[in-house]
Amino acid sequence: MTFSKITGLGYYVPDNIVTNSDLTKWMDTSDEWITERTGIKERRYFEYGKDTNYSMASAASRQALERAGLSANDIDVIVYATITPDYFFPGSAFLMQRELGMDGKPVIDIREQCSGFVYALSIADQFIKSGMYKTALVVGSEIQSSWIDKSTAGRNTAVIFGDGAGAAVLAATDDPQHCILSTHLHADGRFAEDLYVREPGSSREGRPVNSEMLKEGGYNVFMNGNAVFKHAIVRFGEVIQEALQANGYEPGDLNLLVPHQANIRISDYVRQQLGMTEDQVVNNIQRFGNTTAASIPIALAEAWETGRLRDGDLICLAAFGSGFTWASALIKW
Ligand code: UT7
Repeated sequence: MTFSKITGLGYYVPDNIVTNSDLTKWMDTSDEWITERTGIKERRYFEYGKDTNYSMASAASRQALERAGLSANDIDVIVYATITPDYFFPGSAFLMQRELGMDGKPVIDIREQCSGFVYALSIADQFIKSGMYKTALVVGSEIQSSWIDKSTAGRNTAVIFGDGAGAAVLAATDDPQHCILSTHLHADGRFAEDLYVREPGSSREGRPVNSEMLKEGGYNVFMNGNAVFKHAIVRFGEVIQEALQANGYEPGDLNLLVPHQANIRISDYVRQQLGMTEDQVVNNIQRFGNTTAASIPIALAEAWETGRLRDGDLICLAAFGSGFTWASALIKW
């Protein structure tokens, strides 16, 4: 039987560090409020003219490929998650494919917001398990800083988001002890408008982009923070338990949890529910904020770099986000 295995991880974050006190220049907020409510101390913003969504993804992918001992041409398919693409269409996966010189190889752009990377991983895993492809490049990349409203009106979302990219190389294996054991995907569209960017939408009278829309601010991120928070703490726990149960494990068997970096309070709540120690949960939200689809691959790549992914460890990736979506992946490292 064929499984898929992560053989290389990489990430890229822009050099430009934006601290909580930097934000106070643009909006009425404070380091105390942001730290206490979210755990975030700083995040990265892209540098115009240097970073693009696909260039960050390419940098992360090159690092992942090098660590996997592969070249871009060894990859059979790209699955690319982002909600902040370079163009309205075609997707950023095309631009990364061109940048990496992988002409002719299939690319798949997906959204799925903060759960995007786990969805992308699941798609790539199914391709490899079915035998259709032997290798895949799975990417999450976001430039949130150009979307967010940096005035006081946008402060409940502006303070949490940051920019960055992460990538994983997946390869086929027949070793059931070192592979992705299962992935679990969920969505509930009833809550689509609790965290969304309405514009530019195509179902509009007249052109999808017009001056009225600019005045109304529908292109800013709207978030019902309390609703998102309440659902997140429930769904995170559920989808982690689902992954464990599907494979005959219990929370005590988990070596490491890599949650989407949404809010340190959410991670702490889930960690306590599972009876895990702080060392067993990867948190880098303090330094990078919430990078949406990029947050899990960045955290996973950092965990690998710092020796936190050990041979044979049981690792769970878990995400929750707009849609609503929630998802997990259980991995034997
Ligand atoms: O990755 C996608 C998933 N997203 C999430 O998981 C986010 C989940 N939600 C959250 O993390 C929290 O809801 C937030 C951190 C975004 C907000 O925390 P909260 O405790 O829910 O705050 P709130 O929105 O209820 O606002 C409380 C107060 C309000 O003032 P009043 O009405 O009590 O006077 C806000 O206006 O805090 C105010 N506020 C701020 N004050 C200073 C909101 N944002 C800020 C800010 N700085 N940045």
